[in-house]
Amino acid sequence: MRQGSAVEYDQYGDFDVVHLVPQDRPEPGPDDVVIEVVAAGLNHIERFLREGKLREFTEVHFPARQGVDVAGVVRARGANVRDLPIGAEVMGHVPGSGSHATWVCVPRTAVVKKPASLAFEVAGALYLAGCTAMSIVRELRLGPDDTVVVSAAAGGVGHIQCQLAQAAGARVIGTCSPRNHDYLWQIGVTPVTYGEGLEARITEAAAGRPITAFIDNYGGDNPELATRLGVPADRFVSSEHRRDVELRFLRAPGDDREVTALLNDLSAALEDHALRILISGYYPFDYIVDAYEDLAAMHSRGKVVIGMQPVETGRNLGWYRSEKMRTVHEARP
Ligand SMILES: NC(=O)c1ccc[n+]([C@@H]2O[C@H](COP(=O)([O-])OP(=O)(O)OC[C@H]3O[C@@H](n4cnc5c(N)ncnc54)[C@H](OP(=O)(O)O)[C@@H]3O)[C@@H](O)[C@H]2O)c1
Repeated sequence: MRQGSAVEYDQYGDFDVVHLVPQDRPEPGPDDVVIEVVAAGLNHIERFLREGKLREFTEVHFPARQGVDVAGVVRARGANVRDLPIGAEVMGHVPGSGSHATWVCVPRTAVVKKPASLAFEVAGALYLAGCTAMSIVRELRLGPDDTVVVSAAAGGVGHIQCQLAQAAGARVIGTCSPRNHDYLWQIGVTPVTYGEGLEARITEAAAGRPITAFIDNYGGDNPELATRLGVPADRFVSSEHRRDVELRFLRAPGDDREVTALLNDLSAALEDHALRILISGYYPFDYIVDAYEDLAAMHSRGKVVIGMQPVETGRNLGWYRSEKMRTVHEARP
């Protein structure tokens, strides 16, 4: 059996505390499945956790593993697992983290079947951003009478929130930098550039309709802005609330029914093309630090994902460092 490897860190810190440790394929308990990881998403909150920024909210036990999103193939299963055959393609989460690895062993209930039409990198990006986005959008009970502002609208969580809000019938105004305007128009969102003059730009984009809700992923001055725009206090979703929702899903147990329901609903939305997840960085596992640096630059469009078995691109593996999809796109005249 091939030797695997896993991301581990044994103290709080920056990228330099992260290292790869050898990993043997785990043995499943009676209710577990062992998954060979194909793709796994990256999330800021895991970075914040490693940097020690969330110590007041949740503990990290060292040595700590990293990565909660997972998509892969079932390679072994416990005696009580009857509905997932060896070779089944699955997606979901790793309770306690550890998906940035060759193998994970999780309770069968932590994963759902991956639709055959869904690419592994999309399935692997889905869990934390998707559950956070869907949970927040549903809390607001948006409908056709709503105009909602979403901050950091082109980011990993924001681009999912925008599409789900639209699917609920709301008009969506998204804050972003100019480089993301085209992308937001493409998904039916009215883009407005953040920074000086944002309030006037949002008011103009609303074209006389009241702003009835505000999802603030980014934070900063947005709470005051929402008040000035007349958003009812109970329809303002703060960045802190978003953090708390994300922390809850980061720490969800393997048998969380809400998680399973959300994953199934997200999966159905993807199959119906009501939701499209944009992957703008797909890095080989060995480039995990580059992938995190990309995310930490705070200008991702959609999701950044690592692939455990990337297709070898010959001598040009360095391509991933410099010529990712969005930079190629932006290099066009
Ligand atoms: N409160 C918390 O603890 C907590 C937890 C998780 C995430 N967050 C924050 O939520 C935001 C989005 O998260 P994500 O997971 O979707 O991240 P992501 O995929 O990395 O997206 C980052 C987004 O932030 C946008 N952005 C950068 N500077 C901005 C600014 N000054 N004003 C408004 N937007 C700005 C970028 O937009 P452009 O590329 O268009 O500039 C990009 O779309 C991040 O800022 C993240 O730090 C907060």
